[in-house]
Amino acid sequence: MATVSTTDEETARREQHAKAMAAKLAQMKVPDDWKILPADPNYKNPLVRHFRHRGTVLTNYHLVNGCVEHWARFQARPTDIFVASFPKSGTTWLQEIVWRIVHGETGAGGKADTPLEYRFPLLDMPSAVNMEMRSVHEMDDPRLIKTHLTYDLLPPSVHTSGTKVLYVTRDPRDVCVSYYHCTRMVNYEKYRGTFPELRDRFVRGEVMHAPYREHVQGYLRHADTVLCVTYEQLHADRAAVVRRVATFLGRPATDDQVESIVSHTSFGAMKENPGTNFRHWEKKGLVTAGQEGTFMRKGQVGDWRNYFTEEEGDAFLKWANEPV
Ligand code: PPS
Repeated sequence: MATVSTTDEETARREQHAKAMAAKLAQMKVPDDWKILPADPNYKNPLVRHFRHRGTVLTNYHLVNGCVEHWARFQARPTDIFVASFPKSGTTWLQEIVWRIVHGETGAGGKADTPLEYRFPLLDMPSAVNMEMRSVHEMDDPRLIKTHLTYDLLPPSVHTSGTKVLYVTRDPRDVCVSYYHCTRMVNYEKYRGTFPELRDRFVRGEVMHAPYREHVQGYLRHADTVLCVTYEQLHADRAAVVRRVATFLGRPATDDQVESIVSHTSFGAMKENPGTNFRHWEKKGLVTAGQEGTFMRKGQVGDWRNYFTEEEGDAFLKWANEPV
């Protein structure tokens, strides 16, 4: 696999940032409504701690980055568009489609080369780990915003301002497998447990943004106002999803636009596109790609079969679909 080289200057900047972050984390005050979870030695970043806050698992990186204040300050606008998901469900895929519909960008290159987190930033972390992102507060309309927050944790104005919210779900077994590789790859977690260990943690509701079922059902309960699409629909008939999304956003697309968006959002195209493949995160030290592959890892439906037995898969699915 091709590696991404870093300059001495970048390495020095990263080391300096890591030191500053360690100092901040050490001095951090934990509010009463953040309950620490038992430490898990499988997380090899010694600085990371997981907490439960209003039912959801977040980390001390959220606390130190002032996220809760940032969410409280966020004022939604009727022109805002949110793409929400439980992590690893197809967020990036849906974001790229939404961005292309909104910006009438159907081809390759141009602005589509700009990393997605600048075109479509994450609400949850205003300055995600060591990356300088443009704040959502400073963006021009229409603001396109990604979030992994639960429906209940979204800033209240999102529910009252006419903001458009889209939610993507995926076969929970594939979510869990993709999550496992991601949590191993991201350096602020560096998970080194086995897949069954991670799967059990996922079911116990102790991975970041868990509990899974509450997350998904919290949005699906609002399917009358939230546009819900699935990863599997994106695989089976992306053109139909593009049309549905375009109509929901009040920007119907022509057949040519749909065809072009479909072709530029294939797994191959997005893996090649520096705007969507997240390879620059390797250079920034946010992830270490290696045996886990890269962010655009496999992009398949049913990879879970390589990790679960049929019986385990059935039990997991039954658990995931139980109403909570
Ligand atoms: S994140 O970190 O939560 O934002 O991740 P997310 O984007 O939700 O999910 C990443 C997984 O989606 C796959 N992906 C795609 N699959 C098929 N086609 C396209 N175009 C595509 N874009 C992203 C990506 O490969 C991750 O899944 P896995 O199974 O790990 O490959």
